Amino acid sequence: MNGVKSLETERLILRQWEPEDAGFVLDLYSRWEVQRFIGNSPQVMADVAQAEERIRTWRAMDHPVDGIWAVELKDRKVLAGTLLLKGIPASGPPPLQPSGDTEIGWHFHPDFWGHGYASGAGRAVLDYAFASGLPKVVAVTAPANTASQKVCIRIGLRHQGQTARYYSMLCELFELTGAAA
Ligand SMILES: CC(C)(COP(=O)(O)OP(=O)(O)OC[C@H]1O[C@@H](n2cnc3c(N)ncnc32)[C@H](O)[C@@H]1OP(=O)(O)O)[C@@H](O)C(=O)NCCC(=O)NCCS
Repeated sequence: MNGVKSLETERLILRQWEPEDAGFVLDLYSRWEVQRFIGNSPQVMADVAQAEERIRTWRAMDHPVDGIWAVELKDRKVLAGTLLLKGIPASGPPPLQPSGDTEIGWHFHPDFWGHGYASGAGRAVLDYAFASGLPKVVAVTAPANTASQKVCIRIGLRHQGQTARYYSMLCELFELTGAAA
């Protein structure tokens, strides 16, 4: 089954990415303030072809629970960011291999920071993950990414200290286990 299950909160709709969202994806990921803490060697997106390719990859994800959602503001019908639930790679030589754990993550446009949207969307996906039977969800952040660490805490993930277990980099680790654990 391709595509993600749509989710809803009081203020947000989390839905599948559509090809016509490429302009927003480029605007989001071409910003250094968005990319600077993402991955091992952050790079900004360069052109709309890369955004279109990213959307194709997201839409092709075929997993019963995992997903990459477009987060839209319900009242203004505008896109605000990305919410991710996916397998997290283990540390090791490239190509990165799956660790067997599932991570949650968030990338929001700076115009929409400071309103609780990332936390609201994160909470909805965390609830959905546990309702779908996942035993554990982790989140990792760069040690300097305090904004993302605050989101982790706000949605109930517990800080476990630092780890080099994932992505071949030192990260702050947050996790929560569900009823299925
Ligand atoms: C990480 C990121 C998503 C955090 O965004 P954010 O908007 O600060 O997070 P939240 O949605 O939790 O919003 C919380 C802020 O909104 C404020 N807020 C305003 N109205 C609110 C409401 N109704 N409900 C909750 N919070 C509200 C809170 O006080 C808080 O502000 P503070 O941090 O100054 O205390 C954002 O910085 C980002 O996209 N960064 C770039 C990508 C990135 O680094 N991703 C993480 C990789 S690990």
